[in-house]
Amino acid sequence: QTMACVFGNPIEQSKSPIIHALFAEQFDIDLQYVKRFAEADAFAFSADEFFSLPNTIGANVTMPFKHDALKWVSSLSSQAKRAGAVNTIIRKGSIFEGDNTDGVGLVNDLKDHGVDLQGLNILVVGAGGAAKGVLPALIDAGTNQLSVYNRSADKAIALVNETNHYKDNIATVYDDAAYDEAKEGFDLIINATSLSLYGKLPQISDLVFSNKPVVYDMVYQPSPTVFMQKANSFGCTNNIDGLGMLVNQAAQSFYLWFGHYPEVGKVHQYLLANK
Ligand code: ATR
Repeated sequence: QTMACVFGNPIEQSKSPIIHALFAEQFDIDLQYVKRFAEADAFAFSADEFFSLPNTIGANVTMPFKHDALKWVSSLSSQAKRAGAVNTIIRKGSIFEGDNTDGVGLVNDLKDHGVDLQGLNILVVGAGGAAKGVLPALIDAGTNQLSVYNRSADKAIALVNETNHYKDNIATVYDDAAYDEAKEGFDLIINATSLSLYGKLPQISDLVFSNKPVVYDMVYQPSPTVFMQKANSFGCTNNIDGLGMLVNQAAQSFYLWFGHYPEVGKVHQYLLANK
Protein backbone atom coordinates (compact mmCIF):
# COMPACT_ATOMS: atom_id res chain seq x y z
CA GLN A 1 0.00 0.00 0.00
CA THR A 2 1.24 3.47 -0.98
CA MET A 3 1.12 6.25 1.59
CA ALA A 4 0.70 10.01 1.30
CA CYS A 5 -0.45 12.71 3.68
CA VAL A 6 -1.34 16.34 4.15
CA PHE A 7 0.53 18.41 6.75
CA GLY A 8 -1.26 21.30 8.41
CA ASN A 9 -2.13 23.07 11.63
CA PRO A 10 -5.06 22.91 12.07
CA ILE A 11 -5.70 19.88 9.87
CA GLU A 12 -8.98 18.37 11.12
CA GLN A 13 -11.04 20.29 8.51
CA SER A 14 -9.00 19.06 5.54
CA LYS A 15 -10.93 17.53 2.63
CA SER A 16 -7.74 16.26 0.97
CA PRO A 17 -8.03 12.67 2.31
CA ILE A 18 -11.48 12.18 0.84
CA ILE A 19 -10.52 13.85 -2.45
CA HIS A 20 -7.43 11.66 -2.89
CA ALA A 21 -9.31 8.53 -1.83
CA LEU A 22 -11.82 9.20 -4.61
CA PHE A 23 -9.04 9.85 -7.13
CA ALA A 24 -7.23 6.63 -6.14
CA GLU A 25 -10.47 4.70 -6.59
CA GLN A 26 -10.64 5.89 -10.22
CA PHE A 27 -7.41 4.03 -11.00
CA ASP A 28 -7.65 1.14 -8.53
CA ILE A 29 -4.65 2.50 -6.68
CA ASP A 30 -4.25 1.25 -3.12
CA LEU A 31 -3.51 4.59 -1.44
CA GLN A 32 -3.61 5.43 2.24
CA TYR A 33 -3.77 9.23 2.46
CA VAL A 34 -3.81 10.61 5.99
CA LYS A 35 -3.88 13.93 7.86
CA ARG A 36 -0.70 14.83 9.75
CA PHE A 37 -0.89 17.51 12.41
CA ALA A 38 2.44 19.26 12.99
CA GLU A 39 3.37 21.67 15.75
CA ALA A 40 3.79 25.21 14.44
CA ASP A 41 7.59 25.12 14.73
CA ALA A 42 8.08 21.46 13.84
CA PHE A 43 7.30 20.95 10.15
CA ALA A 44 10.76 19.56 9.35
CA PHE A 45 10.58 17.09 12.22
CA SER A 46 7.13 15.98 11.15
CA ALA A 47 8.15 15.61 7.49
CA ASP A 48 11.29 13.62 8.41
CA GLU A 49 9.16 11.37 10.58
CA PHE A 50 6.50 10.74 7.93
CA PHE A 51 8.97 10.02 5.14
CA SER A 52 10.87 7.55 7.31
CA LEU A 53 7.80 5.30 6.94
CA PRO A 54 7.89 2.72 4.14
CA ASN A 55 6.04 3.32 0.84
CA THR A 56 5.55 7.07 1.30
CA ILE A 57 5.17 8.58 -2.16
CA GLY A 58 4.54 12.24 -1.32
CA ALA A 59 2.59 14.81 0.62
CA ASN A 60 0.51 17.91 0.41
CA VAL A 61 1.27 20.88 2.59
CA THR A 62 -1.28 23.41 3.79
CA MET A 63 -1.35 26.36 6.20
CA PRO A 64 0.93 27.37 7.81
CA PHE A 65 3.72 25.19 6.42
CA LYS A 66 4.01 26.02 2.71
CA HIS A 67 7.10 28.12 3.32
CA ASP A 68 8.68 25.60 5.72
CA ALA A 69 8.17 22.97 3.04
CA LEU A 70 9.94 25.18 0.51
CA LYS A 71 13.00 25.08 2.73
CA TRP A 72 12.69 21.37 3.55
CA VAL A 73 12.60 19.85 0.04
CA SER A 74 15.68 18.93 -2.01
CA SER A 75 14.66 20.74 -5.21
CA LEU A 76 11.98 23.13 -6.47
CA SER A 77 9.83 23.30 -9.60
CA SER A 78 9.66 26.67 -11.32
CA GLN A 79 6.06 27.13 -10.12
CA ALA A 80 7.11 26.54 -6.50
CA LYS A 81 10.09 28.84 -6.80
CA ARG A 82 8.03 31.66 -8.27
CA ALA A 83 5.10 31.10 -5.91
CA GLY A 84 7.48 31.12 -2.95
CA ALA A 85 5.62 28.17 -1.51
CA VAL A 86 5.39 24.39 -1.72
CA ASN A 87 2.03 22.64 -1.44
CA THR A 88 3.14 19.31 -2.96
CA ILE A 89 6.12 17.11 -2.15
CA ILE A 90 7.04 14.37 -4.61
CA ARG A 91 9.33 11.64 -3.41
CA LYS A 92 11.82 10.16 -5.86
CA GLY A 93 13.79 7.74 -3.71
CA SER A 94 15.81 9.87 -1.34
CA ILE A 95 15.10 13.07 -3.33
CA PHE A 96 12.14 15.25 -2.39
CA GLU A 97 10.85 17.60 -5.08
CA GLY A 98 8.78 20.62 -4.09
CA ASP A 99 6.03 21.84 -6.38
CA ASN A 100 3.07 24.18 -6.17
CA THR A 101 -0.24 23.15 -7.73
CA ASP A 102 -2.45 25.91 -6.30
CA GLY A 103 -2.10 28.16 -9.33
CA VAL A 104 -2.71 25.37 -11.83
CA GLY A 105 -5.68 24.34 -9.67
CA LEU A 106 -7.17 27.82 -10.00
CA VAL A 107 -6.51 28.05 -13.74
CA ASN A 108 -8.01 24.61 -14.39
CA ASP A 109 -11.07 25.36 -12.29
CA LEU A 110 -11.60 28.58 -14.24
CA LYS A 111 -11.38 26.49 -17.42
CA ASP A 112 -13.96 24.09 -15.97
CA HIS A 113 -16.20 27.15 -15.59
CA GLY A 114 -15.65 28.22 -19.19
CA VAL A 115 -13.11 30.95 -18.45
CA ASP A 116 -10.11 31.14 -20.77
CA LEU A 117 -7.47 33.46 -19.29
CA GLN A 118 -5.85 34.31 -22.60
CA GLY A 119 -5.80 38.11 -22.94
CA LEU A 120 -7.83 38.85 -19.81
CA ASN A 121 -7.41 41.81 -17.48
CA ILE A 122 -7.43 40.49 -13.96
CA LEU A 123 -7.74 42.12 -10.57
CA VAL A 124 -6.27 40.13 -7.69
CA VAL A 125 -7.46 41.28 -4.27
CA GLY A 126 -4.96 40.50 -1.52
CA ALA A 127 -1.18 40.23 -1.51
CA GLY A 128 -0.51 37.43 0.98
CA GLY A 129 0.63 33.88 0.37
CA ALA A 130 -2.57 32.90 -1.41
CA ALA A 131 -2.24 35.70 -3.96
CA LYS A 132 1.45 35.09 -4.51
CA GLY A 133 0.86 31.37 -4.94
CA VAL A 134 -1.42 31.76 -7.96
CA LEU A 135 0.22 34.62 -9.89
CA PRO A 136 2.77 32.48 -11.80
CA ALA A 137 0.09 30.18 -13.19
CA LEU A 138 -2.11 33.16 -14.15
CA ILE A 139 0.79 34.67 -16.08
CA ASP A 140 1.60 31.35 -17.77
CA ALA A 141 -2.04 31.05 -18.87
CA GLY A 142 -1.67 34.11 -21.09
CA THR A 143 -3.20 36.83 -18.93
CA ASN A 144 -2.91 40.29 -20.49
CA GLN A 145 -2.68 42.47 -17.40
CA LEU A 146 -2.65 41.73 -13.70
CA SER A 147 -3.60 44.36 -11.12
CA VAL A 148 -3.05 43.72 -7.45
CA TYR A 149 -5.06 45.50 -4.79
CA ASN A 150 -4.23 45.14 -1.12
CA ARG A 151 -5.23 46.90 2.10
CA SER A 152 -1.53 47.41 2.82
CA ALA A 153 -0.14 48.99 -0.34
CA ASP A 154 3.47 48.14 0.48
CA LYS A 155 2.75 44.42 0.23
CA ALA A 156 1.00 44.91 -3.11
CA ILE A 157 3.98 46.89 -4.41
CA ALA A 158 6.43 44.20 -3.29
CA LEU A 159 4.36 41.46 -4.93
CA VAL A 160 4.01 43.41 -8.18
CA ASN A 161 7.75 44.05 -8.33
CA GLU A 162 8.48 40.39 -7.80
CA THR A 163 5.94 39.38 -10.43
CA ASN A 164 7.39 41.77 -13.00
CA HIS A 165 10.77 40.23 -12.37
CA TYR A 166 9.41 37.09 -14.10
CA LYS A 167 7.40 38.88 -16.77
CA ASP A 168 7.97 42.56 -17.42
CA ASN A 169 5.13 45.00 -16.93
CA ILE A 170 2.38 42.45 -16.61
CA ALA A 171 1.51 43.54 -13.08
CA THR A 172 0.51 46.89 -11.63
CA VAL A 173 -0.73 48.07 -8.27
CA TYR A 174 -4.40 48.92 -8.18
CA ASP A 175 -4.79 51.84 -5.78
CA ASP A 176 -7.29 54.58 -4.98
CA ALA A 177 -6.08 56.66 -7.89
CA ALA A 178 -6.92 53.83 -10.25
CA TYR A 179 -10.60 53.77 -9.26
CA ASP A 180 -11.61 56.27 -11.93
CA GLU A 181 -10.16 54.11 -14.64
CA ALA A 182 -11.75 50.97 -13.31
CA LYS A 183 -14.78 51.39 -15.53
CA GLU A 184 -12.64 50.40 -18.45
CA GLY A 185 -12.85 47.11 -16.92
CA PHE A 186 -11.66 43.95 -15.39
CA ASP A 187 -12.66 40.67 -16.99
CA LEU A 188 -11.97 38.68 -13.85
CA ILE A 189 -11.68 39.54 -10.16
CA ILE A 190 -10.05 37.05 -7.81
CA ASN A 191 -10.53 37.43 -4.07
CA ALA A 192 -7.29 36.00 -2.68
CA THR A 193 -7.96 37.14 0.87
CA SER A 194 -9.64 34.85 3.38
CA LEU A 195 -12.07 37.61 4.43
CA SER A 196 -15.11 35.70 3.18
CA LEU A 197 -14.42 33.07 5.84
CA TYR A 198 -15.42 35.71 8.38
CA GLY A 199 -18.26 37.16 6.33
CA LYS A 200 -16.20 40.27 5.59
CA LEU A 201 -15.58 42.20 2.39
CA PRO A 202 -12.38 43.88 1.26
CA GLN A 203 -12.73 47.69 1.10
CA ILE A 204 -12.66 48.06 -2.64
CA SER A 205 -14.47 50.34 -5.05
CA ASP A 206 -17.76 49.02 -6.41
CA LEU A 207 -16.60 50.24 -9.81
CA VAL A 208 -14.56 47.07 -10.21
CA PHE A 209 -17.83 45.29 -10.94
CA SER A 210 -18.82 47.72 -13.74
CA ASN A 211 -17.66 45.51 -16.56
CA LYS A 212 -19.59 42.50 -15.15
CA PRO A 213 -16.42 40.51 -14.63
CA VAL A 214 -16.22 36.86 -13.73
CA VAL A 215 -15.70 36.74 -9.95
CA TYR A 216 -13.67 34.06 -8.21
CA ASP A 217 -13.45 33.70 -4.43
CA MET A 218 -10.79 31.32 -3.16
CA VAL A 219 -12.95 30.68 -0.09
CA TYR A 220 -15.56 27.95 -0.59
CA GLN A 221 -17.46 27.88 2.66
CA PRO A 222 -20.13 29.13 3.14
CA SER A 223 -21.05 29.45 -0.52
CA PRO A 224 -22.10 31.73 -2.09
CA THR A 225 -19.58 33.83 -0.16
CA VAL A 226 -20.29 37.46 0.76
CA PHE A 227 -17.95 38.55 -2.05
CA MET A 228 -19.87 36.47 -4.59
CA GLN A 229 -23.14 37.86 -3.26
CA LYS A 230 -21.89 41.40 -3.62
CA ALA A 231 -20.79 40.71 -7.21
CA ASN A 232 -24.18 39.22 -7.91
CA SER A 233 -25.89 42.36 -6.61
CA PHE A 234 -23.95 44.32 -9.25
CA GLY A 235 -25.16 42.05 -12.01
CA CYS A 236 -22.19 39.68 -12.25
CA THR A 237 -23.50 36.26 -13.18
CA ASN A 238 -20.44 34.01 -13.23
CA ASN A 239 -19.42 33.93 -9.55
CA ILE A 240 -17.31 30.97 -8.53
CA ASP A 241 -16.25 29.69 -5.11
CA GLY A 242 -12.92 28.00 -4.36
CA LEU A 243 -14.08 24.40 -4.02
CA GLY A 244 -13.11 23.54 -7.59
CA MET A 245 -9.66 25.03 -7.02
CA LEU A 246 -9.25 22.70 -4.06
CA VAL A 247 -10.19 19.67 -6.14
CA ASN A 248 -8.07 20.76 -9.11
CA GLN A 249 -4.93 21.46 -7.08
CA ALA A 250 -5.35 17.99 -5.59
CA ALA A 251 -5.74 16.49 -9.09
CA GLN A 252 -2.45 18.05 -10.20
CA SER A 253 -0.69 16.72 -7.08
CA PHE A 254 -2.14 13.26 -7.71
CA TYR A 255 -0.87 13.45 -11.29
CA LEU A 256 2.62 14.39 -10.09
CA TRP A 257 2.68 11.31 -7.84
CA PHE A 258 1.02 8.71 -10.05
CA GLY A 259 1.19 10.01 -13.64
CA HIS A 260 -2.59 9.63 -14.01
CA TYR A 261 -4.85 12.67 -14.30
CA PRO A 262 -8.05 12.04 -12.33
CA GLU A 263 -11.52 13.14 -13.36
CA VAL A 264 -12.33 16.11 -11.10
CA GLY A 265 -15.97 16.81 -11.97
CA LYS A 266 -17.49 13.90 -10.12
CA VAL A 267 -15.30 14.47 -7.07
CA HIS A 268 -16.42 18.11 -7.01
CA GLN A 269 -20.02 16.90 -7.23
CA TYR A 270 -19.45 14.43 -4.42
CA LEU A 271 -18.12 17.18 -2.12
CA LEU A 272 -21.10 19.41 -2.91
CA ALA A 273 -23.49 16.59 -2.11
CA ASN A 274 -21.71 15.60 1.12
CA LYS A 275 -21.01 18.90 2.86
P1 ATR B 1 -2.73 34.12 2.98
O1 ATR B 1 -1.44 33.36 3.07
O2 ATR B 1 -3.96 33.28 3.18
O3 ATR B 1 -2.82 34.95 1.77
P2 ATR B 1 -1.92 36.37 4.60
O4 ATR B 1 -0.54 36.29 4.10
O5 ATR B 1 -2.15 36.62 6.04
O6 ATR B 1 -2.74 35.03 4.28
O7 ATR B 1 -2.67 37.47 3.72
C1 ATR B 1 -4.00 37.73 3.91
C2 ATR B 1 -4.45 38.79 2.90
O8 ATR B 1 -5.75 39.25 3.29
C3 ATR B 1 -3.55 40.01 2.90
O9 ATR B 1 -3.57 40.55 1.60
C4 ATR B 1 -4.27 40.94 3.88
O10 ATR B 1 -4.03 42.29 3.71
P3 ATR B 1 -2.82 43.02 4.48
O11 ATR B 1 -1.59 42.71 3.70
O12 ATR B 1 -3.19 44.45 4.44
O13 ATR B 1 -2.79 42.45 5.86
C5 ATR B 1 -5.70 40.64 3.54
N1 ATR B 1 -6.57 41.01 4.66
C6 ATR B 1 -6.67 40.39 5.85
N2 ATR B 1 -7.56 41.00 6.64
C7 ATR B 1 -8.05 42.05 5.93
C8 ATR B 1 -9.02 43.08 6.16
N3 ATR B 1 -9.70 43.13 7.31
N4 ATR B 1 -9.26 43.96 5.17
C9 ATR B 1 -8.58 43.90 4.00
N5 ATR B 1 -7.66 42.97 3.71
C10 ATR B 1 -7.40 42.05 4.65
